[in-house]
Amino acid sequence: MRRGVVAGVGFTVPDRVLTNDDLSALVDTTDEWIVQRTGIKERRIAGPEDTASTLGTDAARKALAAAGMAPEELQMIVCGTVTGDMAFPSTACFIHEALGIAPIPAYDVGAACAGFIYALANANAMIATGVVDNALVIGVDVLTKYVDWTDRSTCVLFGDGAGAVVLKASETGDRGLVKTVLLADGGGAKHISYESGGSRYPFGEPQSQGRRLKVYMNGAEVYRFAVVAMGDACCRVIELAGLEPKDIQLFVPHQANLRIIRAAQERLGLPDERVFVNVEKYGNTSGASIPIGLAEAEQTGRLTKGDLVLTVGFGAGLVWGANLIRW
Ligand code: UT7
Repeated sequence: MRRGVVAGVGFTVPDRVLTNDDLSALVDTTDEWIVQRTGIKERRIAGPEDTASTLGTDAARKALAAAGMAPEELQMIVCGTVTGDMAFPSTACFIHEALGIAPIPAYDVGAACAGFIYALANANAMIATGVVDNALVIGVDVLTKYVDWTDRSTCVLFGDGAGAVVLKASETGDRGLVKTVLLADGGGAKHISYESGGSRYPFGEPQSQGRRLKVYMNGAEVYRFAVVAMGDACCRVIELAGLEPKDIQLFVPHQANLRIIRAAQERLGLPDERVFVNVEKYGNTSGASIPIGLAEAEQTGRLTKGDLVLTVGFGAGLVWGANLIRW
């Protein structure tokens, strides 16, 4: 069966580190509270010069180098982001410009923290149906430019970064994206949002009066949803593949909160050594967290060719989904 095989992966994070102690000087919080409730110790913060496309391009170049591919060989770019450089053009177009290559399809997928899950599934479908023979898939978010730095319930959670993979078509063997589950429930849209600047509440228009200019999140609702949704998506994708949790060599979940990760781990019955966690270093990097995890796992020797890796994400929408990949 024709499908997309991961040929290379890469990631990038900004240099600036913001620790929990740094945050306690900004808002009424403590290192102890943040570590206990989220597992986060520090996160990376984009500088004024860093944007979704600059970080995304950097990660893309690393993934291309790992795949041994020149940018000119690319046939498609899909970027999962909700914090793009501009409302339009798409961040994928800015990345295309930065790579300096001839015209190819390039577009964004807006699925918040599940952006990479959705983007990878989308690119794989384009490969499986013969539209393209390869694709660059990026997950990038720069949420620290959107959070309210006076709101302790959200500003402690997020960090910035980008990850990318190059998918190449393969007609033989069992490597590649094995199965996908994608879900959305717009009934949960009210739980995480960034209201201003869109066509509902345009900047400077009367209807935007009193609307939030920063990230809003009902953390407790999202937490309740995430604990169930992550486990459900994982079980469904494993079942679709006719496999069992014990067949998973590495679980790379969205890194939002260590407690949410552990709940999914428990449901799958996986030991710690099969679960990838880096939330303590980067916080929640939204659409970037899964490809950053995949890249770090490979670099540290925890992921090798032929391994079965389970990825799962959830976020604003509400959206959620899982990809099962034979690495
Ligand atoms: O990628 C998707 C994005 N979203 C998420 O993944 C978020 C999912 N939700 C969560 O991770 C958790 O709900 C949070 C980490 C956001 C909050 O943890 P919690 O255990 O659900 O805490 P809580 O919201 O129930 O708040 C408990 C208390 C509250 O005080 P009171 O009302 O009990 O007096 C909060 O005001 O903790 C307080 N609190 C804080 N205290 C110190 C909230 N944020 C902080 C803080 N430092 N940073």
